Amino acid sequence: MKQRRAVIFDCDPGVDDAVALLLALAARDELDLLGITTVAGNVSAALTARNACLIRDIADRSDVPVHAGAQRPLRREPVEAGHFHGESGLGDLPIGKPREGVTPGHAVDFIATTLRSAIDTSRHVCIVITGPMTNVALALQRDPRLIEGVECFAIMGGARSEGGNITASSEYNIHADPDAAHYVFNAGPVVYAFGLDATHQVRATPARTTRIHALGSRSAVAAARLLEFSNALPANGPREHGAPLHDPCPIAWLLAPQLFRFRPCHIDVEVDSPLTLGHTAVEFRASSERAQNVQWAIEADADGVFDLLERYFAAGRSGKA
Ligand code: RIB
Ligand code: CA
Repeated sequence: MKQRRAVIFDCDPGVDDAVALLLALAARDELDLLGITTVAGNVSAALTARNACLIRDIADRSDVPVHAGAQRPLRREPVEAGHFHGESGLGDLPIGKPREGVTPGHAVDFIATTLRSAIDTSRHVCIVITGPMTNVALALQRDPRLIEGVECFAIMGGARSEGGNITASSEYNIHADPDAAHYVFNAGPVVYAFGLDATHQVRATPARTTRIHALGSRSAVAAARLLEFSNALPANGPREHGAPLHDPCPIAWLLAPQLFRFRPCHIDVEVDSPLTLGHTAVEFRASSERAQNVQWAIEADADGVFDLLERYFAAGRSGKA
């Protein structure tokens, strides 16, 4: 059997983070999910941590630890996105008490310890980040040698041809902590970046969410409800077009890389201008001064992504409803 990919999943659930978590947790044969780390972003750090525990319950994966992380960005004032995710952060999903809470230990400490072990065992880790990149930046700033334990970063964030979704020129994850994003984009390891240019091609149309709901597993029913919540938000455009499926894209890429096409680039982030804070300057032109360490997703196979979701959310894989 092919060795499973070692993964840390850093997120701010968040409706689309929750669908991405359900996918990652269903892929137990392909992904060795070493831990979920959560960060303040869409909603507060306390809520993102609780929400990750609730999603873990739905997927019946109590084997995966959840570590709560940074409560605010590196430098700028916190900015949430509750208007896209509902007060709880999980849309209109029923909210109870998680069966199990977070594992003691800060997310940054967990990331650092896990990367040190990756270096010792030469089993490098892919770090998926679908929220503000605060936790990962803090870990690497504390000990830059930790990058030797990173196989790659797979991040949802940024925008080039699509323009921004929080301001005219910046996408939320980068805007929420531009300093952290700039640090990770320039830390050295290759970054597979799924910005709005790609995620806007992957739409959760009603036909697609209906098909997922019909699978009947707990994960499928929860994912469909989360996607339908996003579809109903006026900010996501006409319901029939479907809301963009942002955060599941990096996980879908881990499971089926052929679903995406990339262009190599260098990315700098605006960290000071009030007008363009969080803008990602995606530079495709090669130059000796700028390492082209980022792979910018330019194309996504939307049908392929939803076929993948259906495969992994099928009852056999995702727990009976
Ligand atoms: O711009 C989309 C991103 O911002 C997604 O990660 C969503 O969860 C929000 O965090
Ligand atoms: Ca997110």
